[in-house]
Amino acid sequence: MKISGTHYRTLWPAANGAVRVIDQSRLPFEFAVVDLLTLEDAACAIRDMRVRGAPLIGATAAYGMALALRGDASDTRIAQAARVLEATRPTAHNLRWALDRMRGALRGVALAERFGAAMREAGSICDDDVEQCRTIGSHGLELIRDLATGRSEPVNVLTHCNAGWLACVDWGTALAPIYRAHDAGIPVHVWVDETRPRNQGAALTAFELAAHGVPHTVIADNLGGHLMQRGLVQMVIVGADRVTACGDVCNKVGTYLKALAAWDNDVPFYAALPLGTIDWSLSRGADIPIEERSPRELTHITGITAMGTFETVRVVNESSAALNLGFDVTPARLVTALITERGVCPATPAGLYGLYPERRTGT
Ligand code: MRU
Repeated sequence: MKISGTHYRTLWPAANGAVRVIDQSRLPFEFAVVDLLTLEDAACAIRDMRVRGAPLIGATAAYGMALALRGDASDTRIAQAARVLEATRPTAHNLRWALDRMRGALRGVALAERFGAAMREAGSICDDDVEQCRTIGSHGLELIRDLATGRSEPVNVLTHCNAGWLACVDWGTALAPIYRAHDAGIPVHVWVDETRPRNQGAALTAFELAAHGVPHTVIADNLGGHLMQRGLVQMVIVGADRVTACGDVCNKVGTYLKALAAWDNDVPFYAALPLGTIDWSLSRGADIPIEERSPRELTHITGITAMGTFETVRVVNESSAALNLGFDVTPARLVTALITERGVCPATPAGLYGLYPERRTGT
């Protein structure tokens, strides 16, 4: 993704030995980068959501594991680093998937070689993510192209949260098809849910789409259903933090309500995701752990003043309780199809195992 003409990934190894990430807590008002030098730096960046989005959480955790091994590459250290990183955010499956891949790559590697091997494996997790997202974009592009055929108006796509390049290493999942369609000259317009409480849509998705020149409009989270009733939404595409082997989709809280509205209005509802998001061990969406974050994210809101300073203000009555659950689960029956790097499939076990036949025997 280009920002002011320069191509960026969301994280990369820097010459000073650090892993450099874009600090998403400052966007869209400030484009800042942060250096991660230690395991704790990586864990904090994930926990505090300087980096966020399931694939990027996985990629950062992979580098976090590598950084942990710089001075001590023992088996004990690997196990301890995995525990620290796994505890950062419980819902995104990509976190566990990336750590499993790291442990697999380090098995049998001599102690002296482990740090280098871990940095290389984390790099290859990032490269794979870029390629997977690019391919998700190609498959999703064809769905948008079909909707555009014979239509004189732009295709209006509604998305929730941020599942663009900022949520991944590059391209994004839900936004990759939109970028590909826009680049292919297909007129698209995106309805961007603001995504309370942390406003990933208003802050990040809008920033990304603006930087790429894609027409878009930020809307209140609750407007989508009304727009669908008026025929102003041709499709919904969201990302996912975890998808069960039965096709239930866990994503940012509010996604389920969009799926219900889409179902009621005959609007196709797609979730876009790479392999690392699929939890083959779960068949029921109800078993997915849902992250509960600080109520302060709900009771307070941060923005920039006319003077250019960041300010946090309270927006909820002081004595009221607040509950901040980060995700919800959309049952597979409400999902038109899943868009993966291997193609588009029904949100069913047959659909998923059809694309990933090698998963039939193990997890
Ligand atoms: O809490 P966040 O910002 O990490 O939540 C992100 C989402 O819910 C995204 O939609 C999801 O991770 C898919 S990212 C390609």
